[in-house]
Amino acid sequence: MNVIWSKYVQGIGTLYLSRKLRFDDRFASQYKVAFDLDETKPLRILEIGCGPGALSGALRRWYPNAEVIGLDRDSEFIQFAQASENGVTFLEGDATALPFADNTFDVTISNTVSEHIEPSRFYGEQYRVLKPGGVCLVLSSRKGIHLTPDCLLPDEFEQQFWQKVSQLDDSMEKYAVCKYPMSEAELPLAMKQYGFQEIRTGYATVDLTPDDPKYPSEMARAMINANRQNALEAIDSVTATLADHFSIAETDEMRRRVNAKYDTRIALYDQGELLWDTTVSIIMIVRGTK
Ligand SMILES: C[S@@+](CC[C@H](N)C(=O)[O-])C[C@H]1O[C@@H](n2cnc3c(N)ncnc32)[C@H](O)[C@@H]1O
Repeated sequence: MNVIWSKYVQGIGTLYLSRKLRFDDRFASQYKVAFDLDETKPLRILEIGCGPGALSGALRRWYPNAEVIGLDRDSEFIQFAQASENGVTFLEGDATALPFADNTFDVTISNTVSEHIEPSRFYGEQYRVLKPGGVCLVLSSRKGIHLTPDCLLPDEFEQQFWQKVSQLDDSMEKYAVCKYPMSEAELPLAMKQYGFQEIRTGYATVDLTPDDPKYPSEMARAMINANRQNALEAIDSVTATLADHFSIAETDEMRRRVNAKYDTRIALYDQGELLWDTTVSIIMIVRGTK
């Protein structure tokens, strides 16, 4: 049982809630233009490093004729995805040794995974399992905009907590998180280097601004609560990795403060007090053909 990512790096709620928003149907047309897939065909799509499964679920909705398979190394993510996203097959597996025969998929796709896996294995395995003419899609997050409102800024207690964590925490190195980052120029070159042709790039912009009236209140609340979950699960990861350095009282106090702040943010939203805090994600999509 492998739970490295869900326990020590990013929790289920952090990834699932943020990706449900990132791959909400209102942004589908941007992705579909960049993916440029033939929807009339019964495509066989493999998502590599699917995490808790939000992108696989979106692909199932956006390409109803497709068979979608999601694969991840983390057992907790796979169990959660199986229970949460209908119509997709999820399985545990290693992206560096895919459990599939050569030439068996029309599409391979991943979101924020390429930077964590050694490139010759990451691209090589996808090239192997794709059919001739198959499409490899690599999605990665680029520098966007994140504006925190005053009511969510860390107080003195929280600042000291995170300062101590940063001095002690070695989980990024230990678990090879972001060990293979690539710039917007390096990514397409790498895809070419590993055998793909007709390389193209595209960008989707996902604007999450709770106070913007174009978003219904349930989506605005989902944006605020996705950030709350991220903040709470970051404390859970500290509990898992640095239990000897923090008392239960300290981590409980951190959770209490985070919840109080996000309750305030929701209350301000409900009162119609506009803060215009925002998270704008830019997702790069690199497309190559075998
Ligand atoms: C940043 S998370 C992204 C998860 C998901 N794509 C999303 O956007 O929510 C990176 C994912 O890659 C998975 N992963 C890392 N190395 C892997 C490997 N060698 N094989 C399979 N999955 C891997 C992790 O378990 C984690 O779920």
